[in-house]
Amino acid sequence: MKVTIFGSGYVGLVSGACLADVGNEVVCVDIDQAKVDRLKRGEIPIYEPGLEQLVRTNQAAGRLSFTTDVVEGVAHGLFQFIAVGTPPDEDGSADLQYVLAVASSIGEQMNDYKVIVDKSTVPVGTADKVRARIAEVLQRRGESEIEFDVVSNPEFLKEGAAIDDFMKPDRIIVGTDNPRTSELLRALYAPFNRNHDRVIAMDIRSAELTKYAANAMLATKISFMNELANIAELVGADIEQVRIGIGSDPRIGYSFIYPGIGYGGSCFPKDVQALERSARELGYQARILESVEQVNYRQKAVLFDKIKRHFNGDLAGKVIALWGLAFKPNTDDMREAPSRVLMEALWQAGARVQAYDPEAMDEVRRIYPSRADLQLSNSPEEALAGADALAVVTEWKLFRSPNFDAIAAALSAPVIFDGRNIYDPKFMKNRGFTYYAIGRGSV
Ligand SMILES: NC(=O)c1ccc[n+]([C@@H]2O[C@H](COP(=O)([O-])OP(=O)(O)OC[C@H]3O[C@@H](n4cnc5c(N)ncnc54)[C@H](O)[C@@H]3O)[C@@H](O)[C@H]2O)c1
Repeated sequence: MKVTIFGSGYVGLVSGACLADVGNEVVCVDIDQAKVDRLKRGEIPIYEPGLEQLVRTNQAAGRLSFTTDVVEGVAHGLFQFIAVGTPPDEDGSADLQYVLAVASSIGEQMNDYKVIVDKSTVPVGTADKVRARIAEVLQRRGESEIEFDVVSNPEFLKEGAAIDDFMKPDRIIVGTDNPRTSELLRALYAPFNRNHDRVIAMDIRSAELTKYAANAMLATKISFMNELANIAELVGADIEQVRIGIGSDPRIGYSFIYPGIGYGGSCFPKDVQALERSARELGYQARILESVEQVNYRQKAVLFDKIKRHFNGDLAGKVIALWGLAFKPNTDDMREAPSRVLMEALWQAGARVQAYDPEAMDEVRRIYPSRADLQLSNSPEEALAGADALAVVTEWKLFRSPNFDAIAAALSAPVIFDGRNIYDPKFMKNRGFTYYAIGRGSV
């Protein structure tokens, strides 16, 4: 089948490569000329395991191509996917300008029936706006007889495991008010659906809300555990034991109940905010969502507070080694990453940072170009050299079992602030470390 995808970011690029890999002819359209040029050369602008190989193979086979040419893109696909960003507006609600710009482009260029598939995460009612925008443009062109359908098909892939998630989805949500489009989408997704039927068809508004509900639930679990971790610390309990204790209840489960230093990334923060703002616009105060956001905001400061307390409030001239910059492992994405909040607080307090991340070094260079108080290191060991303490910010596998003797020898004193609870407090104590974690007290 012929597929066009607008937006070649995390979602558009992964969707395009996976759809091409099962035999579809996919054209990816992006407005970012530099990005498209790189993609044409087989360079992948983001780090996502397995993506480079998948893109190159399908590009070489002629099933996947990249362009900035909207005319070519609209002419190509029966399916016109919208996978552009929906960043927060000034007030936190989702900014739909990119989605609606794509809708206008499709309306301007389409000459036959198209299925417009909205994959971006968008507030309830956006499909109606997309439909209205296309209809308006067609009418202006005097082409209002050209038919089209709009489908909501939110994406649930996780950065770091995006290809697996797309190839073997838990569910494929198809929001449509027309059985014709539901069948077309079923056919397109059939290759990812062989094991058992994962398509869940529903009305468009419910599909749009399902995506926000999923992200809000996951963010709620994280904030809940972070709240509990803070309480555990005060009452002298170990949140890691509590986590295992509650996770054993199948109604709760073990996933997504890790305490830490707050959620980041391009989705949870903006989606919780956007859902809360949507509710507010309709006169409803979403108290749980407000709290989830507030707890997360506070949690991002927890590691800095511990560092500051350890150094008796005086961080001027101190050097902190930072392990991990990406908002989670297996990605280079630093959008809303807790590392940014921590580094900025450290700089504000007069400290210097020596940072290492296995994949996000280009990203940190782009975000904080040439800062005297940020030294980017080529290895975890290099980041430690001469630092006054180590802060573990992202739980990359590489950091899970380091050479503790080498850490102790490289630091001016053996002090670790573990924002992800990846080490064992007793073990650290026996090794002679002053060890701070989340919800486990200090040793
Ligand atoms: N990143 C994730 O893990 C994830 C997961 C599920 C859903 N989502 C949602 O998917 C959407 C896209 O997210 P992303 O992380 O891929 O974004 P991204 O910022 O990585 O990529 C968006 C791309 O769209 C391009 N673009 C903007 N306007 C365009 C236009 N008019 N025509 C063509 N291209 C245009 C940009 O240049 C950019 O390359 C968002 O709504 C997001 O919430 C993201």
